[in-house]
Amino acid sequence: MTDRQHDAIATWERRWLAASGMMSLLFIIFIAYSLAIEGAHIAQSSGRTSPEKLLQAGSFSNPAVRELSNGKFQVTGVAQTFSFSPSEIRLPVGAEVQFFLTSKDILHGYQIQHTNVNVELMPGEVSYLSYTFDKAGEYRITCNEYCGLSHQNMLGKIVVMPQADYAKERDERLAAVAAGTVNIGEETYKANCVACHQENGEGLAGAFPPLKDHAPLLQQSQRDYLIHVLLYGLQGPIKVNGANYNGIMPAWSQLSDEQVAEVLNYVLNAWGNSPAGEAYRPEEVAALRAKNLKPIDIQNMRQVLELE
Ligand code: CUA
Repeated sequence: MTDRQHDAIATWERRWLAASGMMSLLFIIFIAYSLAIEGAHIAQSSGRTSPEKLLQAGSFSNPAVRELSNGKFQVTGVAQTFSFSPSEIRLPVGAEVQFFLTSKDILHGYQIQHTNVNVELMPGEVSYLSYTFDKAGEYRITCNEYCGLSHQNMLGKIVVMPQADYAKERDERLAAVAAGTVNIGEETYKANCVACHQENGEGLAGAFPPLKDHAPLLQQSQRDYLIHVLLYGLQGPIKVNGANYNGIMPAWSQLSDEQVAEVLNYVLNAWGNSPAGEAYRPEEVAALRAKNLKPIDIQNMRQVLELE
């Protein structure tokens, strides 16, 4: 190689180095710009603990939207296959919302459409972010981490409405709760069960078993079985009305005793079902909470029923 060729190569090397250096610098500037101006939301996570401990802690044991003072709101949200709890968040325009989010089982995502909120939810970790909803409308919440068969049905929504509408709705709801005219079972079903078992109770062939024409048989075979399924989940092959299923029903132990009892009563009366016994009572649920069973134990319990 001549000296001249050598110099030419060195010149090109320097140019490439300079170009890649410029690109890195540009990236840093873009990121700094989007953080400062666009306010991209990078969730702050607060260290790890065991998921069980976290879920028992104060507000995560009862995921909800709470109205704080001066237009601020707090959402404590829990994701699990395949749902978000709370699944619907209703807010007035201008609401500044602090989100505290976690996952109960595996990695899920929490992306709010039309915003720059997009975080990962990990079991044992709390993701925190704050967002102000300045525009009325419906914002879909989606899970953007593949988490299993019904991942695409893992949805939630945020409804942002004019302040007056919000206040009216809130007062009506408070009055309905006070008057006892809220159907807790139906609300619980629509918020937590429809992603898999569907609005019509028919499930999804091959993936999620039907509750229609089936739940009363389970109640008849063994009254406590359905409560066990909700508290502890169910995993492993089962046969329902002649069809095989081999999926996972997550545990719903975060629901209150009343919600568990009422959602079962709803399922046993919906879609032409008729219950095979008395309505479930919250005390029955409370009595079965301390058993510490695993989803596989519930599958064994299910096999003993010998339903085909
Ligand atoms: Cu949860 Cu995908």
